[in-house]
Amino acid sequence: MSAAASPSAADALIAAAVAHLRAGELVALPTETVYGLGADAADPQAVGRIYAAKGRPANHPLIVHLAAASHLDQWAASVPPAARALAEAFWPGPLTLILKKQPWVPEAVTGGQVTVGLRVPDHPLALRLLAAFAAAKAPAPAGIAAPSANRFGRVSPTTAAHVREELGDKVALVLDGGPCAVGIESTIVDFSRAEPEILRPGAISAADIARVAGVTPRQRGDGAGRNATPAPRASGTLAAHYAPRTPLRLVDAAAFREEVERLARAGKKIAVLARAAAPGDIPASCHWRVAPGDAAGYARELYANLRALDALGVELIAVEDVPTDAAWRAVADRLGRAATGAGKK
Ligand code: TXA
Ligand code: MG
Repeated sequence: MSAAASPSAADALIAAAVAHLRAGELVALPTETVYGLGADAADPQAVGRIYAAKGRPANHPLIVHLAAASHLDQWAASVPPAARALAEAFWPGPLTLILKKQPWVPEAVTGGQVTVGLRVPDHPLALRLLAAFAAAKAPAPAGIAAPSANRFGRVSPTTAAHVREELGDKVALVLDGGPCAVGIESTIVDFSRAEPEILRPGAISAADIARVAGVTPRQRGDGAGRNATPAPRASGTLAAHYAPRTPLRLVDAAAFREEVERLARAGKKIAVLARAAAPGDIPASCHWRVAPGDAAGYARELYANLRALDALGVELIAVEDVPTDAAWRAVADRLGRAATGAGKK
């Protein structure tokens, strides 16, 4: 369905999506971050289908999407006040909280761990689906387990067309909510230990969290896959992730133009992702793509840009490295992981 579909058509699609979920099937849904591959989080068999479709190892836990923050306690056994304050401040929004799970929450969702990842996505279609699903399952708890709707290790989808390319034959329905507004995955904050820790950076920054939670979270690794400590519990924190098939190299901004010219002169077929327009004298063998100059705009278009460059069949994607300040942290993280994982297939 498109974002512009008539209200009754949208209702019919939501009803169909709820029916598919209740039948244990997979439904792809838009969120503000990336598209998710959804299944009934309370149904271990349905959740198993997510792992099969993605080719994802079964010990990697999934995020459970909820209709509202008021559903938190159905899934989490204990919610520290700082975590609740974050849920109230940022939900619906690009923030995932890792909390001790209620005993009933299936291990299929949590990768066998005693914690569960929870978030309320900020997308009107996702929220309608979640509300309708919750109404259908009431009084039982309702949540949609949904990892990003890409094959394991690959670039996350930010349009319905990307989902169809990745997993079209594996889902009962793809809800089309238009391009994702944030474009990179949610910030993950782990509240299951003594001190909160950011497991994956995203649009909600450490400073945003500190302001609301009253405590500065620790940050796992440091930004990009370049110098991160891989966290085995979170696939989004594996050093090689979010990767195109074409080899991808991050090039220092100061040396960028010189390096691109050197590669092009050496006869390499390359594609470039830069924050400035191509110089007039760039060789025709070099495909130059311009990304937005602000971090939020860059993030919004990042995965679509990587997909477009990956489709060109070049030998190398050269990406102009991004600034090191906090606003760019999540983008730098994804670029670093993309560079580490690229060219593996
Ligand atoms: O923005 C997002 O978070 C998107 C949309 C669809 O909501 N979802 C997403 O899901 O990025 P996925 O599965 O691609 O990444 C979820 C991350 C993984 O790194 C996973 O390991 C981590 O969340 N995670 C989930 N539950 C966890 C838990 N209990 N403990 C530690 N990490 C967890
Ligand atoms: Mg993912």
